[in-house]
Amino acid sequence: MGGLIKSSIARKVAMALSGLFLVFFLLQHFTINFTSIISADVFNELSHFMGTNFVVQFLLQPVLIFGVVFHFIMGFILEIRNRNARDVSYARYDGGANSSWMSRNMIITGLVVLAFLGLHFYDFWVPEIVHKYIEFAPEDATRYYGELVEKFESPIRTGLYVISFVFLGLHLWHGFASSFQSVGFNNKYSVAATKFAKAFAIVIPLGFVVIALVHYFNH
Ligand code: HEM
Repeated sequence: MGGLIKSSIARKVAMALSGLFLVFFLLQHFTINFTSIISADVFNELSHFMGTNFVVQFLLQPVLIFGVVFHFIMGFILEIRNRNARDVSYARYDGGANSSWMSRNMIITGLVVLAFLGLHFYDFWVPEIVHKYIEFAPEDATRYYGELVEKFESPIRTGLYVISFVFLGLHLWHGFASSFQSVGFNNKYSVAATKFAKAFAIVIPLGFVVIALVHYFNH
């Protein structure tokens, strides 16, 4: 395993696989959160299921946390290795000639998403852990919708969320599409897969923006 992680190809593949896993998470997270702007009851039901189901809580959630931590640690390692391998820094070299801004700044867009996750965990995850495992508060299956909408009363928090979703889109624009190449997906469906990835990078972050703004303007 140590040897594998040391090879640069293995590192790219690991980065791509963990990224693809996070894309799946993002899709389900988006779907559940999107219901919050359609029906409070459906959102409460889905959230109650996710928040109390044993498999979700004690199997999928730890895997997800591991996936997030793994992806950002590997991202840092890749960035440092690439910087060391490059003898001319991008500041002095016209990288724009053969690569996009998004591909050259994955570490920046990734760091913004990481900072967002810090705020997001403070907003939702920490209160959830306190509710369940510190206060041992009785489960109320109708509490989730109220807890969500109150977060979007603040214009500052809503603004920070919206800016973060734009950076998430920039990160996905390059990351999702290039993950196919990194895992060796190279066949007649490659062009369609790239188009799908770019569409995903626009639609999902934009959808998150819509959720945040709808709750903000509805309160
Ligand atoms: C308007 C947009 C969003 C809303 C309303 C939202 C809402 C929530 C809520 C309610 C939870 C708590 C779940 C729980 O009870 O454990 C949560 C957890 C989480 N969210 Fe979001 N989220 C949004 C966007 C995002 C985005 C863009 C990402 C990733 C870049 C993200 C990543 C996470 C993660 C990793 C968790 C912890 C998952 C877990 O508890 O298992 N969220 N979010």
